[in-house]
Amino acid sequence: MKLIALVGSLRKESVNYRLALTLKERYQDRFELAIADIGSLPFFNQDEEEDPPASVQTLKNSISTADGVLILTPEFNWSIPGLLKNALDWLSRGDKVLIGKPVLVAGASPGMYGTLRGQLHLREILTSPGIQAVTLPPAGNEIAIAQAPQKFGDGAQGRLTDERTLNHIDVVVDRFLGLIGKS
Ligand code: FNR
Repeated sequence: MKLIALVGSLRKESVNYRLALTLKERYQDRFELAIADIGSLPFFNQDEEEDPPASVQTLKNSISTADGVLILTPEFNWSIPGLLKNALDWLSRGDKVLIGKPVLVAGASPGMYGTLRGQLHLREILTSPGIQAVTLPPAGNEIAIAQAPQKFGDGAQGRLTDERTLNHIDVVVDRFLGLIGKS
């Protein structure tokens, strides 16, 4: 099974990027996870939506051929970062590659609420006409990692080590792979 991750942070020691690496390594026997380079996408330009730049087309192709998408993102100002919104705007136009695609939402932040407000916005965006992704219902399936720096090892090499959080993620990932199986 092939999955692709969209990470909403470019920061070197990003906890969300390290969450992507944690999932890639933890579930390597169950799926292959490619982390997309959304930082190199230009700003969305509607004049180019039908014949997008090569970096956008590459992303669209890899999402088309993937079985599912993981979105791992910080919350910025109670919403999603512009970096991620820009990628979703490209993906929502022309060839609409997210329609019907299983998408798992997760996020980590140093604060108390683990990106929950941002995830509400993200889930709303994912239901828009140009996106229409398929997600697990939020109840019981939210992966919102609060006080994240304490739960990851130090530096860019640090991975999520908090056992309770990892056990919860195991359950949600099982359900997500079940959702992919049904779609
Ligand atoms: C933040 N941060 C933040 N945190 C949060 O829980 N809710 C929020 O609304 C915001 N808003 C916000 C805006 C901007 C512009 C920045 C730069 C930061 C803090 C944020 O969660 C923190 O920097 C994370 O560590 C960013 O995620 P990465 O880069 O570690 O993945």
